[in-house]
Amino acid sequence: MNAETFTFDGRKQNSFDPNVRNFYFLPDELKVTRGEGVYLYTDEGRRFLDCSAGTFNLSLGYSHPEIVSVIQEQAEKLIHVTSKFQVDPVNALVRGLAEVAPPGLTKVHLKSSSGSDANEGAVKIAQHLSGKSDVISLFRAHLGQTIAMTQAGAAFRRKPFAFQLPGMLHVPDPDCRRCFYKQERSTCGLLCVERINDFIDYASSGKVACLIMEPITGNGGNLVAPDGYLQALKKLCEERDIILIFDEVQTGFGRTGRMFAADHFGVAPHMLTFGKGLGGSGMPIAGILTQEHLSGVPGHHINSTFGGNILSSAVAAKTLEILRRPGFLENVREVGDHIMARLRAIAPKVKFIFDVRGVGLMIGIEIVDADGKPDAKLTNHLANLAQDRGLLMRTSLYGYGNVLKIRPALVITKAQADEMLDILEPLLLEVAGVRA
Ligand SMILES: Cc1ncc(COP(=O)(O)O)c(C=O)c1O
Repeated sequence: MNAETFTFDGRKQNSFDPNVRNFYFLPDELKVTRGEGVYLYTDEGRRFLDCSAGTFNLSLGYSHPEIVSVIQEQAEKLIHVTSKFQVDPVNALVRGLAEVAPPGLTKVHLKSSSGSDANEGAVKIAQHLSGKSDVISLFRAHLGQTIAMTQAGAAFRRKPFAFQLPGMLHVPDPDCRRCFYKQERSTCGLLCVERINDFIDYASSGKVACLIMEPITGNGGNLVAPDGYLQALKKLCEERDIILIFDEVQTGFGRTGRMFAADHFGVAPHMLTFGKGLGGSGMPIAGILTQEHLSGVPGHHINSTFGGNILSSAVAAKTLEILRRPGFLENVREVGDHIMARLRAIAPKVKFIFDVRGVGLMIGIEIVDADGKPDAKLTNHLANLAQDRGLLMRTSLYGYGNVLKIRPALVITKAQADEMLDILEPLLLEVAGVRA
């Protein structure tokens, strides 16, 4: 790779700073110094509206003042102690999580340091307690970066690595607009769920421990589970004695306008993993919620030095408190609906928009070429143009996908959403060759 010319995501690097030559991944040439709410500022004083909430994790936006205060106060008292001891911030967080957890999820496991790690932990719990091995995931899953979670992801992410795990079973996801089984949703009878039985019967080892899935795919293109899908999946899992795990690393903590996507869809899994948004303004925290009978795996099997970090836990407890304030989640639903309505109004005029879909503030715009095929190149081009005009946007499948993602901080106001759309809409129309 010519490090002097291109950044990690393929953007041209104009003013290369020789001091960043040692970065393994070359960062973008933008140098940011400050953030506030949905805005990020560069050292040259440019302001960007961040449509991706950092890495989809800044539920309260950049440097929320209440989070800053909690960090300052807690840092003076205690930053780390081994998780063997009780500490007030962790106790408060566990209490808060148990209060907001979907029905039946009574146990809180905090000994993870990232979403990937929490997913690994959930799979380990499922394997340990069931005595079974196999893991089912969906085609476009992104469940993390560890070796096992990479294996649970799409082929383009597994391909370069020699270390392959047996027992990972990939099944078609509910991509209703491009149905794997060429069905129509109104008449399909959720064939995609029924067919999972065939995968279990004929493609597994016969010992499936768990099925782990995102209720709305984060990295995989914002595919929203269709009505009845999760209910049918849970029924299948219970009939086949399989533990159902929702990965709510992206969908959790208000992103869908409910505390969890499980609440939005009205289905509680047997286990749920979380991370990202619980850190409020970016503190690292992750964990697992489980049903009572899924507790009991010895601590030494699933543990991390940074799990349940005190600073992060103090921030997470405060984040939960803020998310639970009257009106907070209503704002997510209202602003999300407003963004979807505006985008759907212009979509018929923009020939390359195939679909606008989402729930709450987890929205995707699917981009296609003239033949209706996924157009990742155009999608990245649109994201780059948006950045030039002051919007930070990310695309699906790490830049290999064709979905523009809109996932701003949950504190975004309707006026800020309009500011974003007043930049994005003309850009889409202009590229489509339509007069605004
Ligand atoms: C749905 C989902 N699961 C798991 C992960 C992995 O989380 P982390 O990056 O904290 O390991 C991600 C990260 O993007 C994610 O979007």
